[in-house]
Amino acid sequence: MNILGLNYIYHDSTACLVEDGRLVVALEEERLTRQKHTRAFPEQAISRCLEIAGLAPAEIDHVAISYQPDLDRRKKIVYGLKLGRKVWPFIHYEVQHVLSEQRRLRDWVDATFASEGKPDLHFIPHHTSHVVGSFFVSPYESAALLSVDGSGEWATSFKGVGRGSTFQCLAQDYFPMSLGAVYEAATEFCGFRTNYDEGKTMGLAPLGNPDTFSETVSKMFWVNEDMSVGVDLSYFNYQNYARRCGEKFFETFGSPREQAKAAPFEQQHLDVAAAFQQRLEECILEIARQLRERTEEEYLVIAGGVALNSVANGRLVRESGFKDVYVMPAAGDNGTAIGAAYCVWNNILGQPRTFVHDDPFVGTGYEDSQIRKALEEFKLPYHRVPDDRLESLTADLLHRGHIVGWFQGRMEIGPRALGNRCILADPTLPDMKDKINAQVKHREAFRPFAPSCPIEDTPRFFEQNVADPFMLKVCRVRPDKRAVIPAVTHVDGTARLQTVHRETNPRYHTLLKEFERRSGVPVLLNTSFNVMGEPIVESPLDAVRCFFTTGLDYLVLGNCILGKRPGDLAGIIPASDGPPQGSAGH
Ligand SMILES: [Fe+2]
Repeated sequence: MNILGLNYIYHDSTACLVEDGRLVVALEEERLTRQKHTRAFPEQAISRCLEIAGLAPAEIDHVAISYQPDLDRRKKIVYGLKLGRKVWPFIHYEVQHVLSEQRRLRDWVDATFASEGKPDLHFIPHHTSHVVGSFFVSPYESAALLSVDGSGEWATSFKGVGRGSTFQCLAQDYFPMSLGAVYEAATEFCGFRTNYDEGKTMGLAPLGNPDTFSETVSKMFWVNEDMSVGVDLSYFNYQNYARRCGEKFFETFGSPREQAKAAPFEQQHLDVAAAFQQRLEECILEIARQLRERTEEEYLVIAGGVALNSVANGRLVRESGFKDVYVMPAAGDNGTAIGAAYCVWNNILGQPRTFVHDDPFVGTGYEDSQIRKALEEFKLPYHRVPDDRLESLTADLLHRGHIVGWFQGRMEIGPRALGNRCILADPTLPDMKDKINAQVKHREAFRPFAPSCPIEDTPRFFEQNVADPFMLKVCRVRPDKRAVIPAVTHVDGTARLQTVHRETNPRYHTLLKEFERRSGVPVLLNTSFNVMGEPIVESPLDAVRCFFTTGLDYLVLGNCILGKRPGDLAGIIPASDGPPQGSAGH
């Protein structure tokens, strides 16, 4: 039984294939088209998924789409009628965009499948795809469920409970009562792109003082006793399908920051980020508290764009009273493709739950021969290093202070690089954060970097007692270790830790251990292999391009290592290994 899962209406278009209940492949369209966060129909992702799974289109039995076009239609019409003269942007989005995407799906089905061999199409509500789907691939037999984002069809949240292959929705919020949209307003005020850069607002928050505006912000959005979200819309404008902040927002907080990378941050931008972040955390914690009381569940599954707020997730782990929290690696809209597919497999088809999504490496992968062919096409000299020396040689480079592009195995699903498409560096060097921000990623100087650490070494460096293989739960760095790993410790003493597990990524785990052998520290600075504004690299070609257009020092592509200049690897690769290969033209 083959299920194709699709997400494409909003952003982060994604396709995945679930074969007899097992997630075989999941791919974000942006990695292939190089258009970050694209919402285009995931045509290329579908083709690559089929290729990787070795399936012909005719072998797809079901297509699961993480959007139900007619859901809450009545609510939308009533809302549209109330907008009066402001109705046109609403109509443009709801009618024109959504209808054209539906047409796109129909065209694809007609072009791909013979008329008698069409798969069953299932339109799964957006928030059900987010969190019920996440629950079905979580390790829990039963759990409380919470999904929060800007908005789905019309709902902006889902609060419920999952048990076995069933679920129950207890409550939902509807547009414009939206924690996601409110946080987007703060993002806009700080000069970042909405529905795109919310992570930057979160990263900026520790630089501000939340107390400056906390009283005002606590009256702008809140959680009622029935878990519902309340918003004082007089501050906002997103409800009119326009810019997120209203005039009253600016009267209260001052001038917004210009939307330009070089624009300066004024104190009010930092303080708004801090106050909105703190308030968001309080609201999420309050919903979680009420949800735990109502469901009496021990575990929580959280999904939706707001579930990418790893600082809020960290507080959920520490303060909500749940034993642990599961967040899938693609907790945003990309993961709804997977969620929709599992809603079909487990809930609609009634299959038992047998799969746990604990391995994010479900994307494309390249054979050694393909990597070497790409390098040789560019006439790039490289050294081919045997398996048993690859990690130790890379650890040598890192320990000498070099910044290394690390491209291994199958690509991760979700926004974080988790050991296979990474830029790695020594976290003990105090200037490393500024160096990578300025020379490699070309991004704002305040933005922090994250640490990777083997799960068994985590307690020595971090105040974290749960696994976090997907880098989605911010924790505190132990006070005595903050000066040891300054490049990955944020100004408030926290870090967005990734726990690394030998079972899911043996090569990356070994690299961390080799680095510890040299430095005494089993931690590496790990940031995604891309430059600002571009998706994470997908192919060896993308990796080479990124390598030569940034301040990366070395590139490790599978078993091939290369520097930028002839002789860069002299003294690192033993002379007995001979000259580099693929050096024609040099
Ligand atoms: Fe969403």
